[in-house]
Amino acid sequence: MKVNYTIIEIREKIKDWNKQGLSVGFVPTMGYLHTGHLSLIEAAKRENDKVVVSIFVNPTQFSPNEDLEKYPRNFEKDKLLCEQNGVDILFFPTEQEIYPNKNLINIDINKLDNNLCGRLRIGHFNGVCLIVLKLFNIIKPTNAYFGKKDFQQLQIIKNMVKDFNIDINIIGMPIIREKNGLALSSRNSYLSKEEFEDASIINKSLQKAKYSLENGETDIKKIISNIENSILQKLTAKIDYIEIVDTKNLQKVDKIDCEVLISVAVFIGKTRLIDNIVIQNNM
Ligand code: PAJ
Repeated sequence: MKVNYTIIEIREKIKDWNKQGLSVGFVPTMGYLHTGHLSLIEAAKRENDKVVVSIFVNPTQFSPNEDLEKYPRNFEKDKLLCEQNGVDILFFPTEQEIYPNKNLINIDINKLDNNLCGRLRIGHFNGVCLIVLKLFNIIKPTNAYFGKKDFQQLQIIKNMVKDFNIDINIIGMPIIREKNGLALSSRNSYLSKEEFEDASIINKSLQKAKYSLENGETDIKKIISNIENSILQKLTAKIDYIEIVDTKNLQKVDKIDCEVLISVAVFIGKTRLIDNIVIQNNM
């Protein structure tokens, strides 16, 4: 596996692959890789001739009060995992290379970031779109892989690709979980043992909500308050948001007459965790 540091080098290599007619699968990450990331890499490996993984803790998607400085990093371990999982190129650029100047042009998001994480993390998805678009332009992959854990991110990227006529297939992959149901996340490394156990309540409460919806509950407010009550049984938990939105446009619904996403962000101690569940409407 080659660890390419410069954009020029990586472009050369990819041009070479393109000439040979090889397909390229791309997995963008911020590193500190876990089994969730590896599931994306495995899919990319299965479905493409070559696989590129990027590791870049992107400063433009963190606001000043967030955890950019202390975001977990372990490049040597990540490199080994990429090697063991058959990655062809690990792209690990410096900040200077990605952002040599302050951008004069940014991406504006219409509505898709007015709910869920976008409502509370102002500018977060502008930063995500900016880095993903830059990486797409550098790597020009055939297929790019994203996890459904970050459902809003996936939806925004799918729409960016559609609206800007970018010729890349965006593939959404299932959420990989711990045995106790907690969605894997690099930020889980912040949790103490007690917090890790408490955090399992997040997925449990979503599963309960799904069950009650499937058994005829239609009152959105009641579903949300049941999730809230269940999560708040844990003393380490504080709710950031609980929202039910249409999966297509991410706008809040007042009745369940379409496929919906129940999405939550919860602080367990100081660690902000997100999770979601999709409910199909068979009515
Ligand atoms: P990061 O949090 O490192 O996640 C990289 C990819 O892994 C994302 O597509 C994310 O949804 C996926 N992922 C994380 N946890 C997962 C899990 N438990 N199961 C399945 N997939 C999972 O998301 C980002 O980085 C950044 O915003 C990025 C897209 C790289 C832009 O900077």
